[in-house]
Amino acid sequence: MRDSSFLAEQNAKAIWHPMAHPGNMRSHPPRVIMKGEGVTITDLEGRTVLDAVGGLWNVNLGYSSEPVKKAIADQLALLPYYSGFKGTSTGPAIELSHALCRFFEPEGMARVFFTSGGSDSVETALRLARQYWKVRGQHDRTKFISLKRGYHGTHFGGASVNGNATFRRNYEPLLPGCYHIPTPHVYRNPFGETDARRLAGLCAAALEDEIVFQGPDTVAAFIMEPVLGAAGVVSPHESFMPLVREICDRHEVLLIADEVITGFGRTGAWSGSRLWNVRPDLMCLAKAITSGYFPLGAALVGGKVAAAMESNQDSFGSIGHGYTYSGHPVGCAAGIAALEETQRLKVHENAAARGCELRAALEELKARHAVVGDVRVQGLMGALEIVSDRGAKTPMAAEGMSRIQAGAYEAGVMVRISGCNVILSPPLVIDAGDVRKIAEAVDAGLRVAGRE
Ligand SMILES: Cc1ncc(COP(=O)(O)O)c(C=O)c1O
Repeated sequence: MRDSSFLAEQNAKAIWHPMAHPGNMRSHPPRVIMKGEGVTITDLEGRTVLDAVGGLWNVNLGYSSEPVKKAIADQLALLPYYSGFKGTSTGPAIELSHALCRFFEPEGMARVFFTSGGSDSVETALRLARQYWKVRGQHDRTKFISLKRGYHGTHFGGASVNGNATFRRNYEPLLPGCYHIPTPHVYRNPFGETDARRLAGLCAAALEDEIVFQGPDTVAAFIMEPVLGAAGVVSPHESFMPLVREICDRHEVLLIADEVITGFGRTGAWSGSRLWNVRPDLMCLAKAITSGYFPLGAALVGGKVAAAMESNQDSFGSIGHGYTYSGHPVGCAAGIAALEETQRLKVHENAAARGCELRAALEELKARHAVVGDVRVQGLMGALEIVSDRGAKTPMAAEGMSRIQAGAYEAGVMVRISGCNVILSPPLVIDAGDVRKIAEAVDAGLRVAGRE
């Protein structure tokens, strides 16, 4: 690799970064991360901090999982790539598909379609949902319904069901036939409802209303994150997803669980669907499927959809969709090792226990800092919503958020800023001392913001 002065000098010059303004990158160059070890990262200046972002919600095992690294190295030496398109397969793809079906058996998952990441998995699930209805002879069932505030990646399909204008406006017109309902977000919702259970009922009723309004025989699927991540960690009341399942069943609408963040233990359960005791029809996975060590994703297909697709013999049955890297053998080898480690370490239990500590620590910060409007934690998905006026819930301006992030980094912890939320999604292998360190660093960041 080129020396560090080259990297510092060329930083953000020839690269455009996702979710950033290309013209602003040179005046605000990103931190260059050079090394990861345990739950820490080290930047170009040699500064080592605790990574409370966990890469991007995905490095669940931390940066030093030797079994995953070894699996990748061994597979690279044996077979760095072969196609998974019709006619060929590879050992790791077969093994991981088998392991995933067993792991997600409680969710009712029966088949795996590999992808290269989360947006691909969402795209795949949306396409398979439409194809399922063609196979069933209900050709008009093409529409999708989703949650305002939801995030489902950046492909045209995912952007069309996304519920955040930031990811939509510049790319419109999006896919026709996509509709949105309110999110059961207690802190900010259009009903002014502060009771979580009642709010869940109102949002579920809005879903049923929309399905009936559109005509149930025109709706292919409802897609939701069991716990919303990019929206700033919105964990609906426990009654919400079961109500959604009931409504989908009543109108024969498929339920797609986008578990790109919530899969593999982050919520404190093995999946968000399992957390809420719901069996979806399709699941979208990525991120922690390899703990971020290799790009890989998967759309999982439940028994009902799988049976209909596999028994169909007319022209609608064949899947005209896939990626060169579907079932990449190195990615799948990483996935097998990551899943074994994930289970061996029972990371979901640690996520639940550390999540409770994190919630208590963040609530304590809320009591001391007027700028903290709301605290939301589910397992090791955490968010502090920062406001400049608590009563009016005025979102903190971007400069204020940057100061909080810089203050926390100065205090030894990397946090992520998304809108007016400080997002915490550390590796699931952190310990109680790490939780304290995260809270202290956020405290330091908030003190900086409070002084301005
Ligand atoms: C719920 C959800 N779905 C889909 C995606 C898209 O995944 P990717 O960035 O791997 O394409 C994300 C990414 O954060 C996500 O949080």
